[in-house]
Amino acid sequence: MGTPPNYLKDNKVNVLQRPSRSTDLSPTTNLGAKICIGNPAIKPTADIKYLEKRVKGNPKFSRYSSSPTTAAKDCTLRNSFQPGFVAGGDFVVGGIFPLHYNQEMPDRNSTYRPPPVKCNGFDPRAFRWVQTMRLAVEEINQSSELLTNHTLGYKIFDSCAYPLTGQRAALAVLNGLSEDDSPMCIGASPLLAVIGESGSAQSIVVSRILRPFRIPMISYFSSCACFTDRTKYPTFFRVIPNDDYQVKAIAQLLIHFNWTWVGLIRGDHEYGQFAVQGLLKELQGSNVCVAYQEMIPLLYNTQRALEIMQVMRTSSAKVVVVFSAEGEMTPFLRDYMMQNITGIQWVASEAWVTASVFTRREFYPYLGGTIGFGIKKGHIAQLSDYLQTVNPQRYPNNILVGELWEALYGCTPFPSSANHFPICSGQEVLLEQHSAYMNTSSPRVAYNVYKAVYAVAHSLHNLLLCQPGNGPFENNSCAQSNNILPWQLQYYLQEVKFNIAGEEVNFDLKGDSVPYYDIINWQRGTSGNIEFVNIGLFDGTKPAGEELVIQEEGIMWAGHQSEMPVSVCSPSCPPGSRKAVRRGEPVCCFDCVPCDSGKISNQTNSVECMFCPEDFWSNQDRTACIPKNVEFLAYDALGIPLTVISVVGASLTIGVFVVFFYHRNTAVVRVNNSELSFFILFALILCFLCSLVFIGEPTFWSCMLRHTAFSITFSLCISCILGKTLVVLAAFTATRPGDNIMKWFGPKQQRAIIFSCTLVQVVICAAWLIDAPPYPIRNTTYERSKIILECSVGSSLAFWCVLGYIGLQASLCFVLAFLARKLPGNFNEAKYITFSMLIFSAVWLAFIPAYISAPGNYAGAVESFAILASSFGLLFCLFAPKCYIILLKPEKNTKHHLMGKEKK
Ligand code: TRP
Repeated sequence: MGTPPNYLKDNKVNVLQRPSRSTDLSPTTNLGAKICIGNPAIKPTADIKYLEKRVKGNPKFSRYSSSPTTAAKDCTLRNSFQPGFVAGGDFVVGGIFPLHYNQEMPDRNSTYRPPPVKCNGFDPRAFRWVQTMRLAVEEINQSSELLTNHTLGYKIFDSCAYPLTGQRAALAVLNGLSEDDSPMCIGASPLLAVIGESGSAQSIVVSRILRPFRIPMISYFSSCACFTDRTKYPTFFRVIPNDDYQVKAIAQLLIHFNWTWVGLIRGDHEYGQFAVQGLLKELQGSNVCVAYQEMIPLLYNTQRALEIMQVMRTSSAKVVVVFSAEGEMTPFLRDYMMQNITGIQWVASEAWVTASVFTRREFYPYLGGTIGFGIKKGHIAQLSDYLQTVNPQRYPNNILVGELWEALYGCTPFPSSANHFPICSGQEVLLEQHSAYMNTSSPRVAYNVYKAVYAVAHSLHNLLLCQPGNGPFENNSCAQSNNILPWQLQYYLQEVKFNIAGEEVNFDLKGDSVPYYDIINWQRGTSGNIEFVNIGLFDGTKPAGEELVIQEEGIMWAGHQSEMPVSVCSPSCPPGSRKAVRRGEPVCCFDCVPCDSGKISNQTNSVECMFCPEDFWSNQDRTACIPKNVEFLAYDALGIPLTVISVVGASLTIGVFVVFFYHRNTAVVRVNNSELSFFILFALILCFLCSLVFIGEPTFWSCMLRHTAFSITFSLCISCILGKTLVVLAAFTATRPGDNIMKWFGPKQQRAIIFSCTLVQVVICAAWLIDAPPYPIRNTTYERSKIILECSVGSSLAFWCVLGYIGLQASLCFVLAFLARKLPGNFNEAKYITFSMLIFSAVWLAFIPAYISAPGNYAGAVESFAILASSFGLLFCLFAPKCYIILLKPEKNTKHHLMGKEKK
């Protein structure tokens, strides 16, 4: 096995012709395909003989040689798959690329030989990747530093971007090219590593096939997070970041733009499945919700696609994240354009964000503005020149080159009956505008391919540098340079570290590479087609929160808008309201309810309204806490009239006082005990004035003064009236001579009665003030939005005692006056006193319920009003008739008249 097979000996590039665009693919033929890999552990001749015996002697194996034509041979290739490109070398590296992005499914009828699977949709982009691999190998072969004295070869196969066809490619890459090249394993290609595959679904299949042989594979595009399971994929390496980072980046992007209501669409493959899973996990706990999740079926089906589009159209989620690749996106977008849906902001995954198939101008109205994460780009100096060397003249019969020409120029260089394209003129030149193939300005996946090939070369190089006795393997041995085993290469791959175009390449323990993405925005280019513009980056190596950098000014949004699209389920709640989640709907769909009074929210989208601190209350908009309104009976609409009334009352009383004083010698004044009258008038003035104490901000002093001043002046007033009643009663009862009752009611005694009656009230008040004086309080219980300043009575018992005492005096007065009402005389004061006491009692009886039920500051107003009303009552009842006589009927102001003796 030491010598390379003949076809590999000369390091000339062979380009094999494929029999047709279709290749046979059926499970049986795959089983039949002979897998011979250069495993020098088995001594070829001995093992072949052993195998021969087993196969011949065992009926189980007979089906392997059932065909009459192959019966003579012991082991044959049941199906041979032709590679796209092949070159010999000392060490051969396999390559698997999705040169077509679509295929037709084989039918399952087994009554005839299964027709070959048809791959269609030639992908010039993958063709470019293939050329990049070839370029890298050629560069390495020419290099004087890397793998000197050794050459690399390659075998490149098409996977048709589909797992089953990828499996075919994996088997093909393991096999020799034809039976002649590898008769029973002798001279089978010493395949050391595989560069591939593109899609994760295919890579999974390929890696499972390679795994038993321990052949390392380096994928340039399989980003599925599922590969991190090293026990399942021990030989898998990749030069693309794990999707865990991509979903993190997408989640951060959605959060950054406040797109909280998004749709998810994925293809039917592991890549889509794991990416959606990862994204959902990443979005957990964020404020982004998923409006819908849809899957484009593996076998594209317009009916299903239309259903998905219906969902997209009706949903209010305008941002749609798609984890898929050209394969399913091409037919899907074709139907999408036919449906004429617009206004969707696409968020593209790395798999299609730089796919050149969609750059054509007709896509712009539907796809312009798309944003996505593209994998890191690099620079490959020779690539553009190298790509231009590919043409039908140089590779006559290479079917792939023919397809490239068909795709780029719409003509075929190799006319055949099955082909409907016109024949090419032969003058076609590759220009930059053939971007699907020629776009070399910022290779991304191609750069990954390039890195992957170099990684293999560097590992091989390190392997060959091994010093015997110093090696990493058992007993410090090295690998044999003429007999390298794939698992030995795997060791070196795991360890490799090198620089390429200024970038360091290495693999971590899981075979992953550094997480770095460009943020790409699809904008309109000069010729109306779509251009990929870099508008930011995501660097997963940065600390959390600093990974995402976006230049927002440079972004062109979907629908050629310069304004960012909005994608929310419910518009955000303004300050002053809070979110109320709708039952059974995702958290992003909510109603906004205004905060209750006394609570505020000062941010948009608050989840809860906060209570205002004590002494603060919410403003009208519920956006801020403002100090509560302090209210008391001030000089306002209520206070001013009360003040005026009390001043008027006091002035009137003073007026009466003046009149009385002026006419103090007339009969009316003298008959009715002038001294008591002056006392009463004085007390009334105080009564009127003490209602003023109730107006204005309550203070410690005003509170104490309020009730005490009022009760004492009233007591004084009623004591005087009481005194007067007693005098009247006594005067008339003492008509019989010898009855010296009047001596008990002389002026001195009168003063003593008044003084002692008032004193009782003074004592009560003093006790009240000493024990539990009234004090000002801030009442917030009555109305929570206000602070009402009022006086607390301190002791209600004292308060009611004070009132009760006045009531008692008034009642006594009333009873006595009532008894005296019928006494003779034209001017009998007793009936006026009775009357005044009636009014007085009425006012105060009405006051009690009003006082108890009056809210806050109104209680003071009620009390002050009662004071004024009763004072006026007393003033008018007691003094109006007298003033009437004094001022208007002076002729009646005689003693005779008053005694009722005049007429008689
Ligand atoms: N990163 C993708 C993956 O890992 C890229 C990809 C390539 C892809 N080919 C695809 C995705 C085909 C879906 C289908 O799979």
